[in-house]
Order: sequence, then C-alpha cells, then structure tokens
Amino acid sequence: MNILVTGGAGFIGANFLNLLVPRHPEHRFINVDALTYAANPASLDPIADRPNYAFARVDITDADAVQALFAEHEPDCVVHFAAESHVDRSILGPRQFVRTNIEGTFNLLEAARTRWAPGDGLFHHVSTDEVYGSLGPTGLFTEDTRYDPSSPYSASKAASDHLVRAYHRTFRLPVKITNCSNNYGPLQFPEKLIPLMILNCLERKPLPIYGEGTNVRDWLYVTDHCEAIWAVVERGAVGRTYNIGGHNEVRNIDVVDRLCETVAELTGQDVDGLLALKTYVKDRPGHDHRYAIDASRIGEELGWTPKETFETGLRKTVQWYLDHSEWVDKVRSGEYRNWLDANYGDRG
Ligand code: NAD
Ligand code: TYD
Repeated sequence: MNILVTGGAGFIGANFLNLLVPRHPEHRFINVDALTYAANPASLDPIADRPNYAFARVDITDADAVQALFAEHEPDCVVHFAAESHVDRSILGPRQFVRTNIEGTFNLLEAARTRWAPGDGLFHHVSTDEVYGSLGPTGLFTEDTRYDPSSPYSASKAASDHLVRAYHRTFRLPVKITNCSNNYGPLQFPEKLIPLMILNCLERKPLPIYGEGTNVRDWLYVTDHCEAIWAVVERGAVGRTYNIGGHNEVRNIDVVDRLCETVAELTGQDVDGLLALKTYVKDRPGHDHRYAIDASRIGEELGWTPKETFETGLRKTVQWYLDHSEWVDKVRSGEYRNWLDANYGDRG
C-alpha cells in the first residue's frame, strides 16, 4: 500500500512512522507535513533514509496542493494526524484551528472522494476524546456518547469527525475514526502538561498548575496509541469508530507529583526542592473537568490493550527528555518563547 500519513513530523505522527516504517517494508509511507511550530524533522532521523519512506512539505489547507499530492503519490490509504492540537493555543488564537482541523480535513476528504473509485481506499481519521466534552466524577466515554466539545480545539476536531462520517454516509468513502485520550511519551512538544513539567523541573522553573489541579485526564503512552491505530487500520471495520484509552485516570496534581518524584530519582535531585516549584495559576477558561475512556470495543473486537503502565511510561518519558536535550533545543524556537509569554504572562 501507499500510505499517506499527514502530520508525521509531530508528536504522535512521528512515533507512528518510527514504529511502522521499519516494520512494514512492503508499504510505502509518505509523510505530509507543513512543518509548523509543533513539528521537528529531527524526530524522523531514525527512518529518514529508509527506501519505503518519503517526505512532502504540504499545507493541507491548500486544496490544490493536496490534490497534486494525491496525483503524485496515488495513496491507497490516508492516516490523518495533521492538526493544530493544543487547547490553550486554540483559546488564544482559534482561527488556525478552524483552517487546519476543519478545512484541512475537508481538503483531504475531497481529494480522496474525487481520486478513489467508489469503495476503494481507506481514510483513517485520528481524533480525540475531547469531542465528548467533560465528565463528572463518574462514568466513561463510549463510542455512543453525545458530542459536546468545550474548546475551539475540541469543537474543530468534532467538526472534522462529522465531516468524515458524512463522507462515509453520503459518498460511501471508506473511513475509520479513532478517538483517543491524552498521550504522553517521547517527541512531545513541551507546551503540553507532561513535557512542560519535566523540562521546568530540569531547569528549576515554576510548575504552573491550572486552577486547583483536580482535573482528571486518562493518560496513554504514545506507542500504545500508535499500535491501536494500526490495529484499526489493518483490522477495524469500515465506517466504525473506536475509542482508545489507557485505563489510567490521574489528577493533574498527582501527575506533577509523580513527575517530580521520577525526575528526582533519575537525576539525583532533591524531591522536596522540585515539589516546592509547584505554582497554582489562573484556570483555563472552559476547562473540562474529567476525561475517561471505555476502550472495551477495541479490546473485544481487535484484541488491543495498552502495554505500558503510567509508571513505566513516565520513567521512559523522563529518561527520553534527559537523553535528548539537543532535540529539545531544536523545537524551542523563538516562536515557542513568544507562546510561553502569551500563555503564562498574565496567569499570575
Ligand atoms: P502535534 O501538534 O504534535 O503535531 C501536529 C503535526 O501536524 C505537526 O507536525 C504539524 O507541523 C502538522 N500540521 C499542523 N498544521 C498542518 C497543516 N495545515 N498542514 C500540514 N501539516 C500540519 O499533534 P499530536 O499531539 O501529534 O496530535 C496528532 C493528532 O492526534 C491530532 O489530530 C490530534 O488532534 C490527535 N490527538 C492527539 C492527542 C494528544 O494527546 N496529543 C490525543 C488524541 C488525539
Ligand atoms: P494539556 O497537556 O494541555 O492537554 P489537554 O488540555 O488536551 O487535556 O493539559 C493536560 C491537563 O493539564 C489539563 O487539565 C490542563 C492542565 N495543565 C496545567 O495544569 N498546567 C499547564 O501548564 C498545562 C499546559 C496544562
């Protein structure tokens, strides 16, 4: 197969390609990425010279460029990761989220619909559990939970999910959708909670906790997510949605405590000194209280279960950031520093 992987220079896309390109020499993987602030081409170093890997710098909001991409590479399958992915950025500047997440997805669907014969091809859409909104203290998101997004990010992902389903129902485009919980692991841009806290610990900077830190996320190690997506691509039912989650509900404040302990253990720093860096800051507007996934469908139908526990995953993640300071320096462009000023400047 020719597999077009959008957003393959970002966090999850790069982990996906690094895992699957060496494992599947019979497939050709074309990484389509605009290389925004969130991308780091160095993330693809392990596979850059593989004969079954190619890179195309294309912005998916450019409809003509997307059509040309399909004409050149003749994909049989699209695995669509490319997105603006950070909730806080979507609050400070929602427009690019609408453009990339909605219009970009639309451009890819149009190219697939017009270039593939009816019933041919596979469009795998990578989405988030945030489309379902916020849970109270109990309950889990299932594939039938009503959409109720809170942020411009989750609303734009919800809109893209609806477009993907509409193309299946109206045009019979073969699609699959996965909605996954919060990922963590190597190669994650340090604007998201876990890498931000690790690097701030290493630099002895304040650890900014929004509100009271009691919000709960269901954390999944990134390669477990990638294996789940591949299981759905290979064996999932066309037109079907699969929720993916880690059975790992943790309050933010407990995530930060565990990170301080892990950093202290792996670096020999004093844990109390790290815990003292915790700083409570102004809450995120519209902050969803709790996410938790019922992943029984993918477990029962495809036999997928996560391999990493939160403990093993966190250790691997902290160790990875300790070992890859060069990678971190490369992603910390001037733009990243501007973002930090904009997001944390007035949180006090
Ligand atoms: P990321 O922000 O790390 O990477 C996004 C990638 O998309 C970057 O390489 C960027 O250059 C590229 N991109 C952005 N706009 C583009 C455009 N207009 N044209 C082409 N490429 C563009 O994101 P991520 O965390 O790797 O998330 C990947 C996907 O998984 C997203 O669709 C996200 O909604 C979904 N998801 C993420 C999580 C998570 O916890 N990170 C959880 C569930 C679902
Ligand atoms: P984040 O990694 O941005 O993912 P998402 O908003 O998509 O779940 O945030 C995870 C949780 O951590 C969320 O409840 C917000 C919180 N958070 C902080 O408390 N401080 C921070 O500096 C960041 C970035 C997030």
